[in-house]
Amino acid sequence: AAMTSGAARERLDMNAYRERLEARLGKSREMMRVVLNKAKSNPKRVALAEGEDEKMIRAAYQMQEEGIAEPILVGKTTTILRKAEELGLDFDPTIANPRDGEWDHYVDRLYELRQRKGVTKSEAEELVRRDSNYFASVMVEVGDADAMLTGLTHHYPSALRPPLQIIGTAADANYAAGVYMMTFKNRVVFCADTTVNLDPDEEILAEITKHTADLARQFNVEPRAALLSYSNFGSVTNEGTRKPRDAAALLQDDPDVDFPVDGEMQADTALVEDILEGTYDFAELDEPANLLVFPNLEAGNIGYKLLQRLGGAEAIGPMLVGMDKPVHVLQRGDEVKDIVNLAATAVVDAQEE
Ligand code: ACO
Repeated sequence: AAMTSGAARERLDMNAYRERLEARLGKSREMMRVVLNKAKSNPKRVALAEGEDEKMIRAAYQMQEEGIAEPILVGKTTTILRKAEELGLDFDPTIANPRDGEWDHYVDRLYELRQRKGVTKSEAEELVRRDSNYFASVMVEVGDADAMLTGLTHHYPSALRPPLQIIGTAADANYAAGVYMMTFKNRVVFCADTTVNLDPDEEILAEITKHTADLARQFNVEPRAALLSYSNFGSVTNEGTRKPRDAAALLQDDPDVDFPVDGEMQADTALVEDILEGTYDFAELDEPANLLVFPNLEAGNIGYKLLQRLGGAEAIGPMLVGMDKPVHVLQRGDEVKDIVNLAATAVVDAQEE
C-alpha cells in the first residue's frame, strides 16, 4: 500500500508539474502568438548572417512556410542548397552569396562608413566577402534587408560588433542593450540589460529603461519599471546604489516617460505587492514591476539566467533594443524555435520603421 500511495503521489506531483508547465507555456505561447500574428500580417526581409548553419536553414524554412518573414540566407549557394536537401526541406531559399561578384556597392558602402575608423578599401573588400556579419550588416544598412539575425556560431561580442559599427543606434538612442522577456505562469517580466553594457551610468540606465518600455508595448504589455539594486530607496547609500536611484529620478523628470517607474529598490520590493503597498506605499509603482532594469551586466546576465533555470521561466531573447534597424544576436546553442521567435520580433520591429 505504501508503494501504491508513493507511486500515486508521484503521479500527482507529475500531473501538478505538467499543469504548471502547461500554464507557463500557455502564457509565453500567448505572448508569442501576438507577435507571430503581427509578423504574418506584413512579413519583412530578414538577413540570416549564418546562412550555412543547419539550424538557420531549418529556421528559414519555417519562417517562409509559415509566412512569418522572408528569410535571406547569407552564405555559399551550393552549401546551403546541399544542406537543405540533406535536411529534407523542400523549399527554394533566397540566398545572398558574399563571394560571388555582385557586391561592389557593399564594399563601397562599408568603406565609406569605416574609412575614418581605420578601414582601408582592401580591408573593406575582405570584410564584405569573408565576414558574413559585416555583409549582413551592410545589407540591412543599405536597405536590401529589413532586419538581421546572427550569433549562433560566434561569441556574442564578435557577432555584435559589426552591426554596432555599421548599423549603429537609432536617432533617439546612444546605447544598445539586450532584453529578455521572461514568462511565468501569471506574469511576464522584461529584464534589461542582460547582454551589452558592462557598467552603465545613470543616463544609460535611463535610456535602456525607455527602450525596454517601448519593446514591452510591442508585446501589448504596459510597462512598470523598477531600477534594481541591493538597497531600498536610500537604505544603503554609496556609488553603487546612487546610479539606479539617479536613473529613476531622471526618468521621473522626463516628460516623455508615460509609465510608472521607481528605484532604487531590491528585486523583492519590485516584485512583491505586499512589500510595495506595505513598507513603501510612497513608491510610484502601485503594482509589481514588469520591467526589471539591472544595475550592471553581471547582475543582469546572472539574474535572468537564474530566473530561467530555477524560476522555470520561458525566456525569449536577447532582443537588442536601441538599434537603428532590428538586429538580434542569438546565443550559441539556441534552438530553431528561438531563431524563429526572434525573427518574428524583428519583423514586428521592422513594420514600425
Ligand atoms: N551601444 C551602442 N553602440 C556601442 C556600444 C553600446 N553599448 N558599445 C560600443 N558601441 C559601438 C562603439 O561606439 C563603436 O562604434 P564606432 O566604431 O563606430 O565608433 C563600436 O560599437 C565598437 O565599439 P568598441 O569600443 O570598439 O567595441 P567594444 O570592444 O567596446 O565592444 C561590445 C562593444 C561588444 C558591446 C562590448 O561592450 C562587450 O563585449 N560587451 C559585453 C558583451 C558580453 O560579453 N555579453 C555577455 C554575454 S552574452 C550572453 O549571455 C548572450
